[in-house]
Amino acid sequence: MAPSLVGRSLLTLNDYSREEITTLLDIADSVKREKSDGRRLRRFEGYTIALLFEKRSTRTRCAFETAIAEEGGYPAFLSNTDIHLGEKETIEDTARVLGRMFDAIQFRGYSQQTAEALARWSGVPVYNGLTDSYHPTQVLADLMTIREVFGSLAGRTVAFVGDGRNNVARSLMLGCAKLGVAFTVVAPKALHPDAAFTTEASEAAEVSGVPIVVTDDLSGVEHADVVYTDVWISMGEEARERERVEVLSPYRVDDALIARAGKDSLFLHCLPAVRGNEVTTSVIDGPNSRVWDQAENRKHTIKAVMLATLGLL
Ligand code: CP
Ligand code: NVA
Repeated sequence: MAPSLVGRSLLTLNDYSREEITTLLDIADSVKREKSDGRRLRRFEGYTIALLFEKRSTRTRCAFETAIAEEGGYPAFLSNTDIHLGEKETIEDTARVLGRMFDAIQFRGYSQQTAEALARWSGVPVYNGLTDSYHPTQVLADLMTIREVFGSLAGRTVAFVGDGRNNVARSLMLGCAKLGVAFTVVAPKALHPDAAFTTEASEAAEVSGVPIVVTDDLSGVEHADVVYTDVWISMGEEARERERVEVLSPYRVDDALIARAGKDSLFLHCLPAVRGNEVTTSVIDGPNSRVWDQAENRKHTIKAVMLATLGLL
């Protein structure tokens, strides 16, 4: 299954076609069914993955660790206080060594260039578990969740509300554009996505025939099938807290905004959520929210990526 995915890294969704992303989502659905059927498989027996973290993580780390370990593989968690990652030793040299020892590498950190260098020099698949630029494994789980609820992706609409220039907004825009999901960013002008990322997504959207809209008007959520938000202050931007809260307060996802989208609209959030900032407790714990399914789906989609790219299907 999916021979073209064997040996591939996942650094950005831009590297994957619509068909390849759909294949990964299909594999994730089947992995989820195996789990709910109580099947215990050993597909990662004898496999190891290095999990490199410059930033904190709950979901991404736990998804990788449990996905590989429960099928007999070994995850080695390596934070940047544990190993010489760009300090004392170059990224290239670390990559060369890790590539000789591990079957794959996950990287979460600041620079997309670090993820690219790891992929280039290690010779094994590298998975981007979040950089300042992108969060592709998150968006696989988002798309899986939307497809689970609606049965299909094409023709759906997603409105991302909040910091439109962050990693999640960028990857979600790209994932939606590729999969034929209309996408609207609803954000204050100062936080509209950078032109380079909008252009990248617009090219994909043109192929799929769906619109990408960027607006500062909250009416952008009207008729959206999915209202999605993320934290106002991403990791590494803590010094900007005061200005972010000021500019983004009108963009909080509350019951009134969900009602504006429509009573059957889903609420999604990559998590962690700062309740009271980007989303109210009534919304995240309310009937439209699917955030816990979304978080669970991180594991199924991450397992799917590893199975496909390690040639274990
Ligand atoms: N959504 C997400 O990536 O969560 P973590 O930061 O907990 O990994
Ligand atoms: N935009 C957030 C996502 C966390 C999963 C951050 O980078 O902190």
